Amino acid sequence: MADLMEDPIAGASAAQAAGKKSHPKKVRVVPESLKKFREIHAAAEAGGPPEKIAAQKAKGKLTARERIAYLVDEGSFQELGLLMESRCTDFGIKDKHIKGDGVIVGFGRVNGRLAGIFSEDFTQLGGSLGRTHADKIAKLMDMAAQARVPVIGILDSGGARIQEGVDSLDGYGEVFYRNTKYSGVVPQISVIVGPCAGGAVYSPALTDFVFMVKGMSNMFVTGPEVVKAATGEEVDFETLGGSMTHASKSGVCHFVANSEPDCFRQVKELVGFLPQNRYEAPPAQDTKDPADRKVALMEKLCEVDPRKPYRVNHIIWWLSDDHKFLEVHHDFAKNIVVGFIRLGGQVVGVIANNPAHMAGALDINGSDKAARFIRFLNNFNIPILTLVDVPGYWPGVAQEHGGIIRHGAKLLYAYAEATVPKVTLVLRKAYGGAYIAMSSKFMGGDINFSLPSAEIAVMGPRGAVEILYSKQIKEAKEEDREALRAKLAKEYSDKFASPYQTASTGSLDEVIEPAQARSRLIGAFRILSGKRRPGEHTHTGNIPL
Ligand code: HXC
Repeated sequence: MADLMEDPIAGASAAQAAGKKSHPKKVRVVPESLKKFREIHAAAEAGGPPEKIAAQKAKGKLTARERIAYLVDEGSFQELGLLMESRCTDFGIKDKHIKGDGVIVGFGRVNGRLAGIFSEDFTQLGGSLGRTHADKIAKLMDMAAQARVPVIGILDSGGARIQEGVDSLDGYGEVFYRNTKYSGVVPQISVIVGPCAGGAVYSPALTDFVFMVKGMSNMFVTGPEVVKAATGEEVDFETLGGSMTHASKSGVCHFVANSEPDCFRQVKELVGFLPQNRYEAPPAQDTKDPADRKVALMEKLCEVDPRKPYRVNHIIWWLSDDHKFLEVHHDFAKNIVVGFIRLGGQVVGVIANNPAHMAGALDINGSDKAARFIRFLNNFNIPILTLVDVPGYWPGVAQEHGGIIRHGAKLLYAYAEATVPKVTLVLRKAYGGAYIAMSSKFMGGDINFSLPSAEIAVMGPRGAVEILYSKQIKEAKEEDREALRAKLAKEYSDKFASPYQTASTGSLDEVIEPAQARSRLIGAFRILSGKRRPGEHTHTGNIPL
């Protein structure tokens, strides 16, 4: 025992120092318990059998552990529950002694900040969710919420473990319950890097942001075969529930990546804008970009015909610190653009009408997209910048019957409910109900600006003239009508469709010098920085809209 406890290196140097003859180095005996510990851990950490890992690689996919390595800072991951096994005695599951039960859970640092992470292992029972698997995720979520850190889930699973019956369904219940309970408390992010089928899709759908990888991720409630049997429609996996389908059509997916490494890079970028929880402010960052940098593009905008399309992303890039803009939901409802920027070092969420698509009009999908994002921002103490250039609501039977009234109301509700600082800048036009919806003064906008060229009115001048002067226009000679319309529209524009009328009533706080837009916005957010302390507003949760 004394031999084992003796440190051979320290012993040798002590002997040399004493001038004694040194003895040959003793071989250290590894205790049986340590050997066993190392063997068990090495086997558990290896994941599924080699042929399953080879199959995973053959599909161009990373293993569950490699994914964590891409996400976290090197050496920071601390695993919990590596040795947990299924308690299911049916179909010989328990006898397989699958360590970890097909999911790796633990805590790691993402860009230096702690996060709870789980990563499903498709090489073990297809990453299917049994009760132990679910218990591990649920416990992680409880711990992360208590520690007030985000939860990042990496999903690659065949869904409910068929062999475990209702126990596995109840396992999903445990997870969904916590997704909802911790919604708006800590940020929750889902990374889909394989199949995600059946009711399993609802856990990601309850989280704040969903990432998918092109050609690798699938999400659907019923797969192609069931669809064919039920409706006769023939559809492949990618068309039914691939990344672009969910990014552009259903709106389930917020970020699409070309590869897994690209996906984890994007996750890190997003996390860099978020606070750890609802009790914290989002992370500020020093910038060398001067607050009073002139934005010449804003002057140009004043010269542009109000009906000419342009991408509002350019305006956002020019306004933001270092021209950095992380767009969320890039491919969905492109008539409205949302995402994260920094202004004067502080994180700000942007909501902007985008005249490049549907003239920037509001519609069902655009309202849902913006409303949910606003509610996320409000939950996590992120101030809101609204850039307005909106001709109204998109007309049509499809919109009315699809419920533009119900969906549009969500946008009004989200803006009015939000208590974070809200600054609005009208770029060109803001007409009718859409003007009110886009964070107008009396919907709770804190500081409302406009550019000198902005038109703010019940409707556009041409439409207004057709209604107000229909008799006069009809009575005019055919060849004089267009000139009359233009004259009347100009008169209407000068009187009503300008920012000065609006500013005179207090509906706008300032009409600003266009090139100074950046410095005025930064100044406005500085004024409002003490408006609300993190965590002091009523907690609402981020219901999927
Ligand atoms: C148990 C499963 C499994 C599952 C896959 N496996 N899904 N084991 N329960 N749900 C196993 C397979 O038997 C196989 O085991 C291994 O995982 C790999 O699966 P493969 O089929 O060989 O892989 P692949 O060809 O890539 O196909 C992947 C797949 C397919 C598309 C996911 O396996 C599949 O269709 N699985 C069933 C999906 C499903 O219907 N799940 C239930 C959804 S309902 P071996 O031992 O052969 O390697 C649901 C309800 C949730 O989830 C409700 C929540 C409220």
